[in-house]
Amino acid sequence: MDGAVTRDGCPVDLYALLPATGEPALIHAAVPPGAEILDLGCGAGRLTHPLIELGHPVTAVDNSAGMLAHVRGPAAVLTTVLADIETLDLDRRFPAVLLASHLLNTPDDRLRGRLLAACRRHLAADGRVLIQWLPPAWFDRVFADMRAVTGRIGGIEVTDTPLSHDGTVLQAVCTYRAEDGGAWSHRFATRRLSRADLHAALAGAGLRFERHLDAGRHWLTATV
Ligand SMILES: C[S@@+](CC[C@H](N)C(=O)[O-])C[C@H]1O[C@@H](n2cnc3c(N)ncnc32)[C@H](O)[C@@H]1O
Repeated sequence: MDGAVTRDGCPVDLYALLPATGEPALIHAAVPPGAEILDLGCGAGRLTHPLIELGHPVTAVDNSAGMLAHVRGPAAVLTTVLADIETLDLDRRFPAVLLASHLLNTPDDRLRGRLLAACRRHLAADGRVLIQWLPPAWFDRVFADMRAVTGRIGGIEVTDTPLSHDGTVLQAVCTYRAEDGGAWSHRFATRRLSRADLHAALAGAGLRFERHLDAGRHWLTATV
């Protein structure tokens, strides 16, 4: 493992290598053509870059300068902002606000409220927030056997290893191996939210659940 790591433990070099899979197409289909997108926690631009290619101007926000250094594009369609999401105030509103990467499942309930408030603060009256979360069924499967699971994202082998849980918060480590021998690991904690928790968190920020975007229910939209 080498290179810089974000405050929440994400290895920058890894995220610069990880390809998007189906996410940009899913997001593109859920918002109007050409809609401007506020990408909160954009990382190295894994979703930002393909969204720009799909015709969406993007304002990309992250609190890691190392991540943002990888986010590149013409100034006409890309703005990058180094900031914490929870205190962000761009004084403008977007038709689409993206909160990906399971940031919603933070174990910190107060932070979750502040992340959603930032989404609401930047949302146009007829806009939608697109959220990627870990649904309760995902936790129930993991809690049932606490087994490591290996998969692939592009050329990277990814192994999620559950370490412990208290019935609600899971402690886990994710390890990544690239074909050239590069290896990274990322320890994280993530909170199971019931559907009632989700609805309450959205309501606390003045938002309401609209619909799921995928069969696995990892993506959802919310509106005012
Ligand atoms: C798991 S990475 C994913 C990045 C990108 N969304 C993707 O799908 O590849 C999460 C990113 O969110 C950023 N992040 C986490 N919490 C944040 C916060 N409170 N404010 C700003 N950025 C944050 C991290 O720095 C990291 O770059």
